[in-house]
Amino acid sequence: MTQGVDITPPHTRIELEQQLISPEFVTDTIRVLTGHESIRSFDSTPIAAEVLEAILVSARSAPTSSNLQAYSIIVVEDEQRRARLAHLVGDQRYVADAPVTLIFCADISRLTYLAERQGHNYAANNLEMFLLASIDAALALQNALVAAESLGLGAVPIGAVRNRPSLIAEELGLPAGVFAVAGLTIGYPKPGVRRGVKPRLPSDAVVHREQYSAENIEKHVSDYDEVMIANGLYAGRQVASDPQIPDAEYGWAEHTARRTSKPETLVGPSAALRDHLKDEVESRGFSIN
Ligand SMILES: Cc1cc2nc3c(=O)[nH]c(=O)nc-3n(C[C@H](O)[C@H](O)[C@H](O)COP(=O)(O)O)c2cc1C
Repeated sequence: MTQGVDITPPHTRIELEQQLISPEFVTDTIRVLTGHESIRSFDSTPIAAEVLEAILVSARSAPTSSNLQAYSIIVVEDEQRRARLAHLVGDQRYVADAPVTLIFCADISRLTYLAERQGHNYAANNLEMFLLASIDAALALQNALVAAESLGLGAVPIGAVRNRPSLIAEELGLPAGVFAVAGLTIGYPKPGVRRGVKPRLPSDAVVHREQYSAENIEKHVSDYDEVMIANGLYAGRQVASDPQIPDAEYGWAEHTARRTSKPETLVGPSAALRDHLKDEVESRGFSIN
């Protein structure tokens, strides 16, 4: 169901890329998926309990490795907690404005409890388990995002919950064995904030047939740069570098290269703390060896 969805043309990536896909294959689900754009401006309309439940049951319906269900979701609705959370994730204002933020956590605490309950020795704490639990959490997040968008809500993932893992854990009362992987801020978009779907790299750049091929990387990058420069997404948002270059030459390639050369610019003001992510993850009770 896509009732109430406020979208500006082009409505979906299929239309943006002028893909020739017959209408019978463009289901409501595919329209929602290909119409995704992150929303960062919300009005104060609350999310009805039933609507939130529909989002949560969708999240819990995601596939989960070996049915371990090694994740948990913290629902944050309290206004003061939302404000503190917004601050902890680098003062991302929309986290305070939106009525709900869901925090998706990798969670092995239930598994260690089970081992003990059943009289076994928990011996699965390694990198694979951290990855598995993080993937479970990410899949649940994506299901929640799609469900929310199908209901006319807007949302944005919040990876910045990993900026200050211990403070986030304290705020959310996370026990050992639970690590906040990413949040999802959800609300009704303010009118007019939808800009339309953000162009992606051409399909051939990321979709490889049978075997990986980087053969046309130069063409893919320069074609995409042209699109991104033309739509002005990075205008006035240059990552500091000497020398600065005109916005008309500053596209995804330069923006991305500057960001990966200064990883602190990927994660915002409190990013330096992510330098200690390995220690933070281990102090939450995971092992990543
Ligand atoms: C794991 C993950 C973490 C993200 N963290 C943030 C965040 O902390 N703040 C934010 O404004 N956007 C965040 N985003 C949103 C991305 O910036 C956005 O998805 C990307 O720019 C593509 O734009 P689109 O979602 O509108 O297509 C995150 C996205 C993902 C997948």
